[in-house]
Amino acid sequence: MEQYIIKGGKPLAGEVCIGGAKNAALGILAAAVMADETVTIENLPDIRDINVLLQAIQEIGATVERVDRHTAKINGANIHSVIVDNDYIRRIRASYYMLGSLLGKYKHAQVAFPGGCNIGSRPIDQHIKGFEALGAQVQIQHGLIQAEAAKLTGSHIYLDCASVGATINIMMAACLADGQTIIENPAKEPHVVDVANFLNSMGANIKGVGTDVIRIRGVEKLHGSTYSIIPDQIEAGTFMLAAAATKGDVLVKNVIPKHLEALTAKLIEIGAEVEQFDDALRVVATRRLSHTHVKTLPYPGFPTDMQPQMTSVLAYSEGTSIVTESIFENRFKYVDELARMGASIKVEGNTAIIDGVGRMTGAIVSAPDLRAGAALVIAGLAAEGITVVEQVEYIERGYEEFERKMRELGAAMEKADSEDEKALLKFRLKVG
Ligand code: EPZ
Repeated sequence: MEQYIIKGGKPLAGEVCIGGAKNAALGILAAAVMADETVTIENLPDIRDINVLLQAIQEIGATVERVDRHTAKINGANIHSVIVDNDYIRRIRASYYMLGSLLGKYKHAQVAFPGGCNIGSRPIDQHIKGFEALGAQVQIQHGLIQAEAAKLTGSHIYLDCASVGATINIMMAACLADGQTIIENPAKEPHVVDVANFLNSMGANIKGVGTDVIRIRGVEKLHGSTYSIIPDQIEAGTFMLAAAATKGDVLVKNVIPKHLEALTAKLIEIGAEVEQFDDALRVVATRRLSHTHVKTLPYPGFPTDMQPQMTSVLAYSEGTSIVTESIFENRFKYVDELARMGASIKVEGNTAIIDGVGRMTGAIVSAPDLRAGAALVIAGLAAEGITVVEQVEYIERGYEEFERKMRELGAAMEKADSEDEKALLKFRLKVG
């Protein structure tokens, strides 16, 4: 087990370069095996969830060549099994994308029931409804989701909620179905659009992604392609919020500013300056920020994946803020950890009422999930004294070299083995 040790109180300054989007990459890797030709994927983040999925597609017979740290060549011609299950894949959410891709290609898939961050109940009924509408029979047995069809036929599907995972999964299966599929009320997140663009680059015929109706004309097969994944808007947003919390001045490079509009608007509202360039955003905070109300919503609303990090910023800000989580019901678990650092936050149902305290102090805290872990790091960077964030393996699911990137912005932050009793002492001696 590893931990981050952070000495807070230093404004972050400089430039940080954002990697490829995790949640796009997961869908794209699953889709890549749908062709029998080589697919080259660029701008792949080197993070745990991605590596688990790459390993799983290799285990079923796809060839995976890591050309460099951020590029992989994948060929699904020799897949010999449609059963995707191992100890690691059971712990990630995106395992379910193998259902859509293998069902589309082979009309049969058996995939481990998805795991992922524990942020509330995460049903998959909309995925199943979509597969069944295309003609598949779906059942859950012995921890596996099994989907099978004699043939897949296009259908008209209305999603009860704009689910990212269900939209991507149904798109993948429908690409190789007979006839037209219409998905109404789909998710519009940038990563959903990116997966569709990737499928289209392989010869799929998907239209309307990013709008309220997606139309897919099934094609006979998909072919090879070379594709570069979009930048990760959540990684970008996390650095923007870290800059704001520490009263810093950070240029966040390699982003699509449009994807970050909801966050940019909130940062400006609470008193930060945000300067927009073609593919970068500069965040400057020169004084204590102010309070606001935030409600998480599907894109283009404020992303649930940025809710914990925003709460950390508001914990320091002046006045009372209200954060409402409308996507996942159990995404405030980190609040008790922030309380150890002196935050004043009360959670009632899906709402957090935050009385900004201006000053927090370092403490030993534990990351309950990926984005909550990032939020604790932000709080630690702005706190007085030393913060230890335990369970960084959650954070590493979604952030590549988080501590290096923070250090390059001037943070005093290191990763250490939790068992190393001298780590804290060594860190103290180093940072003074
Ligand atoms: C994706 O999860 C992301 N994960 C999550 O990112 C992200 O928080 C979430 O979308 C929302 O943006 C991946 O892309 C791998 P959903 P997903 O289906 O697909 C309900 C991160 O930190 N729902 O869009 O699981 C569901 O309960 C993670 O990177 C159903 O009711 O989310 C939720 O309230 C965590 N039935 C809402 O829809 C279903 O069949 C949105 O969930 C599916 C979903």
